[in-house]
Amino acid sequence: MINRKGIILAGGSGTRLYPLTLAISKQIMPVYDKPMIYYPLYTLMLAGIREILIITTPRDNEIFKNLLGDGKKWGMTIEYKIQESPRGLADAFIVGEEFIGDDPVALILGDNLFYGENLQRILTRASSRVDDATVFGYRVKDPRRYGVVECDAEGNALSIEEKPEEPKSDLAIPGLYFFPKGVSEIAKNVKPSARGEIEITSVQEAYLNDGRLKVEKLDRGMAWFDTGTHDALLETAQFVQTIEKRQGLQVCSPDELAYENGWITRAQLKELAQPFMKTDYGKYLDDLAERKR
Ligand code: TTP
Repeated sequence: MINRKGIILAGGSGTRLYPLTLAISKQIMPVYDKPMIYYPLYTLMLAGIREILIITTPRDNEIFKNLLGDGKKWGMTIEYKIQESPRGLADAFIVGEEFIGDDPVALILGDNLFYGENLQRILTRASSRVDDATVFGYRVKDPRRYGVVECDAEGNALSIEEKPEEPKSDLAIPGLYFFPKGVSEIAKNVKPSARGEIEITSVQEAYLNDGRLKVEKLDRGMAWFDTGTHDALLETAQFVQTIEKRQGLQVCSPDELAYENGWITRAQLKELAQPFMKTDYGKYLDDLAERKR
């Protein structure tokens, strides 16, 4: 059985959200009815990942510990590590080296939200692929703003480029990456880029050059948001609100998924709902425990 670990990268400076983030982490901001970090946490849980490391700035570490604790309430383990300065996305594998150990790992950015019908199937497939790295390809209107991947019909990556002037495809790479064991060693050998960061693209290139980088396309029914600007944050919140109001279903509730995954009992879910009973969120969880949904 594979024991894939998960890392949520929730540090960074959040300068594009100033003044909201002058004194507090971006990933604690509300996305409608839940803190932002609930959404990437949910995505890792959907991939079946139960051991998670959260990387934060020195300033915000305690806040996340207060919010999420040790994960026991969801039948998981959650650990915390500090990144002293935002040295780049691939630094997650250096900061998280001890946590990763000799296991494969998934990295998700703390400000990325995924939602869609087939997501669990796609994530499970990526997670079970232990010898190759996987990135996702999401069709966007203006790929020049993103990391862009080109792939063949079998899902093998042919090229990756960071913010290309002339993109070779319209597939942007969202902030969710699966790597085999040993990724920390590769990250340690990455030289900082012109902007002084240890780039995730450089780690991906190492796998690409070995013929070990796979691409899973996210189809047209999939929603992917990066909530890093004021407009994006509001639009994402409105998306969540729309689905929740229209369908009466929660979007990315870790409480619900812990129960659905069989990681907590019905009685535990009911207990989790109690402090929230003044909200629709609490009533939703309570209904779920009472099998009214
Ligand atoms: P970005 O949105 O690229 O950067 P940022 O959060 O610092 O924001 P801004 O551009 O507004 O200043 O980061 C993407 C995600 O990765 C975000 O959730 C923060 C996180 N991150 C880290 O935790 N450490 C890092 O070294 C970097 C570069 C990002």
